[in-house]
Amino acid sequence: MHREKWGTKLGFMLAAMGSAVGLGNIWRFSFVAGNNGGGAFLLLYLLFVLIIGIPLLLTEVSIGRKAESDVVGSFQKLAKGTPWYLTGFFGIISAFLILSFYAVVAGWAIFYFWNYINGSFFTQPAVGYEGAFGQFISHTWHPIAWTALFMILTIIIVLSGVKKGIEAANKIFMPLLALILIALAIFSLSLDGASEGVKFLFQPNWSALSEPSIYIAALGQAFFSLSLGMGAMLTYGSYLRKENKLPSAALGIGLMDTFFAVISGLVIFPAVFAFGIDPSSGPPLVFITLPSIFEQMPFGGIVGLVFFFALILASLSSSVSILEVPTAYFMRVFGWTRFSTSVLMGSIMFVMGIAVSLGFGIWSGITPIGERNILDSMDYIASNILLPLGGLSMALLVGWYFKKSEALESADLSSSSIGGFWYFIVKWMAPVLIVLIFLNKIGIIF
Ligand code: PHE
Ligand code: NA
Repeated sequence: MHREKWGTKLGFMLAAMGSAVGLGNIWRFSFVAGNNGGGAFLLLYLLFVLIIGIPLLLTEVSIGRKAESDVVGSFQKLAKGTPWYLTGFFGIISAFLILSFYAVVAGWAIFYFWNYINGSFFTQPAVGYEGAFGQFISHTWHPIAWTALFMILTIIIVLSGVKKGIEAANKIFMPLLALILIALAIFSLSLDGASEGVKFLFQPNWSALSEPSIYIAALGQAFFSLSLGMGAMLTYGSYLRKENKLPSAALGIGLMDTFFAVISGLVIFPAVFAFGIDPSSGPPLVFITLPSIFEQMPFGGIVGLVFFFALILASLSSSVSILEVPTAYFMRVFGWTRFSTSVLMGSIMFVMGIAVSLGFGIWSGITPIGERNILDSMDYIASNILLPLGGLSMALLVGWYFKKSEALESADLSSSSIGGFWYFIVKWMAPVLIVLIFLNKIGIIF
């Protein structure tokens, strides 16, 4: 069957950056950092991005480009006759789990955008922003309607093919989102009491490091934010031509994504402390913090409107990369059209999203894992467990199954001085660290 290719390397870069930058940087980064004590978490997260994330991003894209197939097919092609391909299903399962809650949260963002269009969030509602948000997400069908809208937009982009649609919008709105975030950070830092937030984010509380769950949280955030371990980057890599060079692309994507997360932290935490919001509010954190910032800010209504529009586009360029993972797989295996495959996959995810949304209302008593509601449980399994396992499998394939020369060649590092360093990370450091973090969490070591 004919597979598409990116028009240019820039097309791939835009799509891959679009995949990386999204709700993970603003929404997920803020609440996970807030839940895990701030500074110590940020430090671990940055460390993991640098020593695991970026090297494995290069690994994942190289696998896709070499195999020219989807997340399951790539393992089948490159490790013929082994059961390795079974780990590709971690990616397919993660895609279902992640997009079903991603679409719910993106739906919340569309609702906010709507509230800035009609002006109702220009000033604080009588119940406060926190109250208004709580009422909205606990409503039975209201948030689901916005989830549906987001899922329909995602499906439309995916069914019209990988090349069209995403690239053009990203070229304008990613820089715009960066500019707005920088302006917001400056404003947020000028608020009374902002310095508490800066301390929270940059002054590590070392005792937090004795808590095993902070490592798994930082690892999961690094994987989620870089779109790593699911096969999204692998699938995008499979649409690359051989002549495109990968190491600089992986570094660029990684740095860009991390920049967005740190800037978001500088927007959210100073404001959280200035407005007396609880940093461990969980998933609602940015949705209660941001409108308070916009309300205080000159021209905040307009800024809020543009901000949420850019956030929705950033979310769309991430969600399409998630939907693309099972779409590419099922198209190949069953020979279905792109149209019917993406509609079917997206619809299943939407149905799962209904459960996620009800988890904030009538199903809030359902806590599948520990104290976690439906969203948190799905997120935990996908981001903290399945994505790192997917990344581990990719690292082992390239580090142990490939010959060293083959590994270096796949990543365009044959004649590079950093080749040996990258290979050491992929073969030893990343797998060992991931396994240690898991064992530590289970309580087997330390
Ligand atoms: N990286 C995206 C974000 O930060 C989310 C994502 C996760 C996309 C996994 C693809 C795969 O919003
Ligand atoms: Na991200």
